[in-house]
Amino acid sequence: MTGINQYKGKVLVAGATGRTGQWVVKRLLHYGIQARVFSREREKAYGLFGDAVEIVTGKIQNDGDVANAVKGCDAVISALGSSAFSGESSPEEVDLAGVKRLVDEAARAGVKHFGLVSSMAVTKWYHPLNLFAGVLSKKWEAEEHLRRVFSQNGRSFTIVRPGGLKDGEPLQSRLHVETGDRMWSGWVNRADVAELLVVSLWAKKAANRTFEVVSEAEEPQESLEPYYDKLD
Ligand SMILES: NC(=O)c1ccc[n+]([C@@H]2O[C@H](COP(=O)([O-])OP(=O)(O)OC[C@H]3O[C@@H](n4cnc5c(N)ncnc54)[C@H](OP(=O)(O)O)[C@@H]3O)[C@@H](O)[C@H]2O)c1
Repeated sequence: MTGINQYKGKVLVAGATGRTGQWVVKRLLHYGIQARVFSREREKAYGLFGDAVEIVTGKIQNDGDVANAVKGCDAVISALGSSAFSGESSPEEVDLAGVKRLVDEAARAGVKHFGLVSSMAVTKWYHPLNLFAGVLSKKWEAEEHLRRVFSQNGRSFTIVRPGGLKDGEPLQSRLHVETGDRMWSGWVNRADVAELLVVSLWAKKAANRTFEVVSEAEEPQESLEPYYDKLD
């Protein structure tokens, strides 16, 4: 089963120049879905995607830039992620304020679905990863905001909480999905996280779900859509 021609909307990808974001764009294009990317650096985005996508440049800190980016889009997928303890790429600015701004402007612009890359262990304030400027708690707060805003008025969300991220091709692993943030370890390919979020655009059972995912074993998969049926 594939999603080819099932989804007709235009999708904004935030964090598209990142390692997971690049896979989100690649998988959208694989399914023939129109993609717009929001990036701080036009040259970087153009170097990666060329003319295959529409590029909108701007700052995640700027309301007007974000409003401009989401305008006319049917869905948003965010693979944004902080990389500095403080400043414009900090957890506070990117994982929390940036994602919240994207959620609010998307809702205001009539975006119907919002997919977010979050993280395993976001509910665990005592997790050592929080030593990085409270990154998990910021992601948790952003998740809560997304759930509040996109679970009403005909909107939907899908939040994927991956274990440790690694690189590799999509659809090469059997995955384990779970809800309740009970897992403590595991790895998953960025490409599979991207695929799950792209599939969430049309998989009905992906609507309003938050779940963790890790890779279980090497085993080629035809589609990741059935994993949404496994969520309790
Ligand atoms: N690493 C792990 O093991 C792990 C585990 C679980 C969850 N996660 C989460 O998964 C997500 C994706 O991870 P990844 O490894 O693919 O991330 P990544 O390669 O570091 O990409 C992060 C993206 O965020 C963008 N970004 C950072 N600061 C920004 C700012 N101030 N304004 C605009 N964009 C900004 C980057 O833009 P530029 O390209 O312009 O820098 C990049 O596109 C992140 O949220 C991460 O926290 C990671």
